Amino acid sequence: MLRNKKILIAVSGSIAAYKIPYLVRLLIKERAEVKLIMTRAATDFVTPLVLSTLSKNKVITGFVEEDVWTDHVMLGRWPDVFLVAPLSANTLSKMATGVCDHILLATYLSATCPVAVAPAMDEDMWKHPTTRRNLQQLVSDGVQVIPPGTGELASGLSGEGRMAEPEEILCFLKEHFFRSSALQGKKILVTAGPTYEPIDPVRFIGNRSSGKMGFAIARSLYEHGASVTLITGPTNEKAVYKGIEVIHIESAEELLEACKQISGDADIIIMNAAVADFTPASAADHKIKKNGADLHLALRPTTDIAAWMGSNKKANQLLIGFALETDNEINNAKAKLHKKNLDAVILNSLNDPGAGFGTDTNTITIIDHGQELNSGNRSKSDIATFITSYLIGKINNI
Ligand code: CTP
Repeated sequence: MLRNKKILIAVSGSIAAYKIPYLVRLLIKERAEVKLIMTRAATDFVTPLVLSTLSKNKVITGFVEEDVWTDHVMLGRWPDVFLVAPLSANTLSKMATGVCDHILLATYLSATCPVAVAPAMDEDMWKHPTTRRNLQQLVSDGVQVIPPGTGELASGLSGEGRMAEPEEILCFLKEHFFRSSALQGKKILVTAGPTYEPIDPVRFIGNRSSGKMGFAIARSLYEHGASVTLITGPTNEKAVYKGIEVIHIESAEELLEACKQISGDADIIIMNAAVADFTPASAADHKIKKNGADLHLALRPTTDIAAWMGSNKKANQLLIGFALETDNEINNAKAKLHKKNLDAVILNSLNDPGAGFGTDTNTITIIDHGQELNSGNRSKSDIATFITSYLIGKINNI
């Protein structure tokens, strides 16, 4: 998403400047081009040398350096996004009133791109009416504010005002400025993770699905502009983007109900959840005690949700299922494609090295009614991009 994107970061005087080297690393890892401006106060917290080494660009600290004038007008036209992080109360007040006594401020006034700020200050300063007023001015001038977090502050107090973490800033930039429009206007439902089928109040029947693949798919679709609803079973994964709507379920029954409510509106449905095929016929309402005898659980089949959606498919709706197979993979996957009335089935073979549950990589084959596309072994986020590209091609041909 950020490959070759130009990000100009202006660092003002706040202890939170210590987080900026890590933010620059994250941006460079994503192949962005990064340039930095620092105020004099900022250089008390982090040296320009650290940031010029990480960004591979000379850091700008003034209008004139070594008898060379920096053209703030051209600098303001260079980036795709201008980020002020950390934004101190002092720089905030100057930006709000148009003071222009530093190259940071002259570049702000010259910027022709979107501007975002990540404020950082102690809670009392953050909540002061002057700060509120200045921030409101920036918002009405079109500046996007990356909200500060709550926690330990440099003063030793605890409260609101600490600068957002570098990972949060990275996500904010991607989400607000760099989503593509390939799937804009498309509503997509993704299911992910395992289901837990209750035996009693403390025990369940589950499976090894980590949710990694489904979450990666949801993120990729969202990055390509889609409105994404993610229904997930219990998992440690995070959707990351605030704009992805996440619905938490536990059992196959709850997943079915949630899918029934949401699927009617969806342009594309991706059934990635590892749904239990059987559930205890009844869950005990108290913890089952052992008494030395065998315990027999009666299981009844769950509803096949993908098949239910296949028989209730709306016109022009795409329904994509997954097939996890250990043998006779292609034929078994094709059988599911037809049986469940899917438009495509994504085959996951547990025989492929580096594929399946809990791994960070996967190998898939997308099988539809005309072709078979093998991804090769890739990271789950690259697999998600592979699936997204397939869907973009498909949706454009409807
Ligand atoms: N699926 C579903 N509801 C179920 C079981 C599975 O919606 N009760 C969906 C899965 O989300 C997946 C597809 O059906 O998209 C295939 O799941 P899989 O477990 O591979 O196959 P099953 O249909 O359960 O068949 P089997 O376990 O016999 O291979």
